Amino acid sequence: MALTSTPFFVSFLILTTFIIINFAAESSTYEEEKEPFVGVNIGTDISNILSPQNLVSFLTHQKITHIRLYDANPDILGALSGSGIHVIIGVPNNQLIGLGSSNTTAATWIRKNVVAYYPKTLITGISVGDEVLTTVPSFSPILLPALQSLYNSLVSSNLHKKIIISTPHAASVILNPFPPSQAFFNQTLSSVITPLLNFLSETGSPLMLNLYPYYVFMQNKGFVPLENSLFKPLSPSKEMVDPNTLLHYTNVLDAMIDAAYFSMKNLNFTDIVVLVTETGWPSKGDLKEPYATKENADTYNSNLIKRVFGRSGTPLHPETTSSVYIYELFNEDLRSPPVSEANWGLFYVNTTPTYLLHLSEIGTFLANDTTNQTYCIATDDADSKTLQAALDWTCGPGRANCSEIQPGESCYQPNNVKNHASYAFDSYYQTQGKGPGACDFKGIAMITTSDPSHRSCIFPGSKQLTKQTKQVVNSTQSSNAGEKLRLRLRIFSSIKISAISNILHIHLVAVVPSILFVL
Ligand SMILES: *[C@@H]1O[C@H](CO)[C@@H](O)[C@H](O)[C@H]1NC(C)=O
Ligand SMILES: *[C@@H]1O[C@H](CO)[C@@H](O)[C@H](O)[C@H]1NC(C)=O
Ligand SMILES: *[C@@H]1O[C@H](CO)[C@@H](O)[C@H](O)[C@H]1NC(C)=O
Ligand SMILES: *[C@@H]1O[C@H](CO)[C@@H](O)[C@H](O)[C@H]1NC(C)=O
Ligand SMILES: *[C@@H]1O[C@H](CO)[C@@H](O)[C@H](O)[C@H]1NC(C)=O
Ligand SMILES: *[C@@H]1O[C@H](CO)[C@@H](O)[C@H](O)[C@H]1NC(C)=O
Ligand SMILES: *[C@@H]1O[C@H](CO)[C@@H](O)[C@H](O)[C@H]1NC(C)=O
Repeated sequence: MALTSTPFFVSFLILTTFIIINFAAESSTYEEEKEPFVGVNIGTDISNILSPQNLVSFLTHQKITHIRLYDANPDILGALSGSGIHVIIGVPNNQLIGLGSSNTTAATWIRKNVVAYYPKTLITGISVGDEVLTTVPSFSPILLPALQSLYNSLVSSNLHKKIIISTPHAASVILNPFPPSQAFFNQTLSSVITPLLNFLSETGSPLMLNLYPYYVFMQNKGFVPLENSLFKPLSPSKEMVDPNTLLHYTNVLDAMIDAAYFSMKNLNFTDIVVLVTETGWPSKGDLKEPYATKENADTYNSNLIKRVFGRSGTPLHPETTSSVYIYELFNEDLRSPPVSEANWGLFYVNTTPTYLLHLSEIGTFLANDTTNQTYCIATDDADSKTLQAALDWTCGPGRANCSEIQPGESCYQPNNVKNHASYAFDSYYQTQGKGPGACDFKGIAMITTSDPSHRSCIFPGSKQLTKQTKQVVNSTQSSNAGEKLRLRLRIFSSIKISAISNILHIHLVAVVPSILFVL
C-alpha cells in the first residue's frame, strides 16, 4: 500500500469555457475481461496464515474470483490449480535488475512462474515491481527493460494475449489531480513514463494504479469531505465540479481515475485503460488515525464494490468502469506501525470478517449478506478420517442437532462426510453462540459468511430459515424447503449547485483568495 503521500489538488474554479474531451476507447488484449470485477490483494505479513489449500477453499466459499499476489508463491499457485480463480502474480522489486538485464533470466522466470502453472492456474496478469518510480527510483531505468523482456518471453510462449503485463504506480506520480482535467504526470518522471505508456499502448495493457482516497482525505482534511472519499451521497454544494469540463465528481476515486486519463491524454495516450491494483480503507488506527474505523472501512468498500458492479464508469468515461483490487484480504498482523497498517483486511487471519460489508443486491461477491451472519463449515482439504471423527464427536458429546443429515432428511444429500460434517459443525457453532472457539475442530473447519445452504437443505443460522416460512413442497419428501506530492492547494472559490428542473445552475458563492500550501 502506498504510504507515500498522495497529492490532491482541490480547486473549484469556474471557467466560462469548457472543453469537450473525446476519448476513443480502443480495443486491447485486455478484452477477455469485459465485465468489470472486484478482486482482492493478498498480503502475507501474517503470523498464522492459512495453508494454501485452505486459502483457496476460503476464496472459493467467499466467491472471490480475482486475486493479486505480491510474488509468485509456488504453493499458492499450485493450490489455485483448477479453482478458476484469476490471479495476478507479482515480480518483487528486488528481482527487477536481473529481469531487466537478461532475456534469459526473464524467460526462466516466465517458465518457472507462469508456464509451469498455466492454464490450470488461471494466471491473468503480471504486475512487475510495485510503485517503483516513487519507492525505489534508482530502479526506474530498469523497469521498462524488465517489462519488455518478460513480455518477449510471454510472446515466445504465446501467452501475451492471455496474460496482461504492467507495473503498479503510486497515485503520487500524477500531480494536481483535482480538478482532474488539470492533472499531469510528474515531468521529472517523463523520461520513464512516456516510454512506459508507449509499451502499455502497444501491448494493450492497462495502467495499474494504487489509489487511496483514504490518504487523500487524511492529507487534505477540511478540503476533501469525508463523504466524498467514502462514495456517500453528497449535498450538491459539496460536489466537486471540474471547472474545465463541468463534470461533477461525487467521489474522490473517480476523480483520481479521471486524473490519470487526463494525464495520459496530455501525453497523447488515449487507448490505455486504468486498472486499480490497490484501494481500500483501514478499519482500525491509532490516535492520529481517527477515521480508520470499521464503519468507514465498511462504507468505503461496500460502496466501492457496488460502484464497480453498477458499471457507472467515471464522469469522463461513463462507458469504462475500472476493475479494482481491494487492499486487502487479511489484516496483516506483522506490519509495523502505524496501527492502520495492520488493519486493512476484510478478514482477520482466522477468516472471521473484520466487518460485514453491505452488499445487498450485488449477488456475486463475498458474503452477499447484510445480516451479520457467519457459518462454520469443513475445509476442502480436510481428510475424511479426521472429518468423520469430528463429526462423531459433534453429533455425540458435542450435542449438535444432526437430525437433518440423517438418511431421507433434507441435508443428507450429498451423502459424504464433508457435507455432513459441515452441517454438524455449523449446528454446533450456532448453538455455541458463534463463540471464538466454536469453529476450531483442530483446523478442519472454517468460518464463512456465505450461506452454505443448498436446495432444500437449510443450514443452522441461515436467514432463509427465519425469513421464509417453511413450505412443505411435496408429501413424498419429508423435508422442508425454503430455499505526495507536496500539496499545493489552491482554493479559488466554492460553488453551489442547485438542480431546478434538471438544469444545473451554478452560482459563484464566494471567491477565496488563492492559497498556496507547500507541505
Ligand atoms: C532481448 O531480446 C530482445 C528481442 O529479441 C532484444 O531486442 C534485446 O536486445 C534483448 N535484450 C538483452 C538484454 O539481451
Ligand atoms: C500530442 O499531439 C499533438 C497533436 O498531434 C502535438 O501537437 C503534441 O505535441 C503532442 N504532445 C506530445 C506530448 O507528444
Ligand atoms: C454482529 O452483531 C453483533 C451483535 O448484534 C455485534 O456485536 C458484532 O460486532 C457484529 N459483527 C460484525 C462482524 O459486524
Ligand atoms: C445474493 O443476493 C441476491 C439477491 O438477494 C441473490 O439473487 C443471489 O443469489 C445471492 N447470491 C448468493 C451467492 O447468495
Ligand atoms: C433439530 O433440528 C430439526 C430441524 O431443524 C428441528 O425440527 C428439531 O426440533 C431440532 N431438535 C432439537 C432438539 O432442537
Ligand atoms: C410431488 O412429487 C411427485 C412424485 O415425485 C410429483 O409427481 C409431483 O408433481 C410433485 N408435486 C409437487 C407439487 O411438486
Ligand atoms: C517529481 O518526481 C521527482 C523524482 O522522483 C521528485 O523528486 C519530485 O518531488 C516530484 N515532484 C512532485 C511535485 O512531487
